[in-house]
Amino acid sequence: MNPLDEVIDDLDEMRADIFRRLGRAAKDRRSAMHTPVIGTVKADGRPSQRVMVLRAFDPATATLRFHTDSRAAKVDEIGEGAPISVLAYDPGAKRQFRLSGTGRIEADGATADKAWNDATLFARRCYLADPAPGTLSDMPISGLPADIEGRKPEDDAEVAPGRANFAVLLAQIDTIEFLHLAHTGHRRAIFRLQPDGSWHGQWLVP
Ligand SMILES: Cc1cc2nc3c(=O)[nH]c(=O)nc-3n(C[C@H](O)[C@H](O)[C@H](O)COP(=O)(O)O)c2cc1C
Repeated sequence: MNPLDEVIDDLDEMRADIFRRLGRAAKDRRSAMHTPVIGTVKADGRPSQRVMVLRAFDPATATLRFHTDSRAAKVDEIGEGAPISVLAYDPGAKRQFRLSGTGRIEADGATADKAWNDATLFARRCYLADPAPGTLSDMPISGLPADIEGRKPEDDAEVAPGRANFAVLLAQIDTIEFLHLAHTGHRRAIFRLQPDGSWHGQWLVP
């Protein structure tokens, strides 16, 4: 049997497997689930989606961490708490995760400070964009100051002004819908976080 077709037929094992895969996806840049699609709702009610790099997954709180420019449109859409979706698909493993929960932006505090300090100089350089990401332009531009474009920043001091534009997006997941495509029979399930912190799983017809 193709190993990709080895389905998990136990809901607790399945949920643990999902958490393991999310943890790996955050650490492994080559993982297909390292760049999921994040969905939000705009002020006018329209959906809005974008690819983001998954930076961390905390299994204890089922929270995903992403990094963003604090001036980005999604920051206004999410604020201190808004519905959020996270869609990840691993074509190799033939698994789709549809996660949803509540997003919040933290621009200050220990989590944002640590994320900033741990980021590479190149990653921190992105936050030097001026004017803000999403600003209309009459010509093609990167937004970066000309003197730092196309080169690695020399030190922390050179990227320090970007800290004011940096924020973390924390997505606390409360619902996980899972789909595994297998020749032997697809598997689909939904897991919902319970008030006591446990997860309740339920099989669905794929
Ligand atoms: C592979 C890839 C990775 C990306 N990673 C991020 C990211 O980690 N954070 C981010 O804010 N935008 C990231 N982007 C850009 C977003 O998709 C999006 O264009 C940008 O954040 C503006 O979205 P907004 O106007 O909804 O805020 C990434 C795009 C791609 C293609």
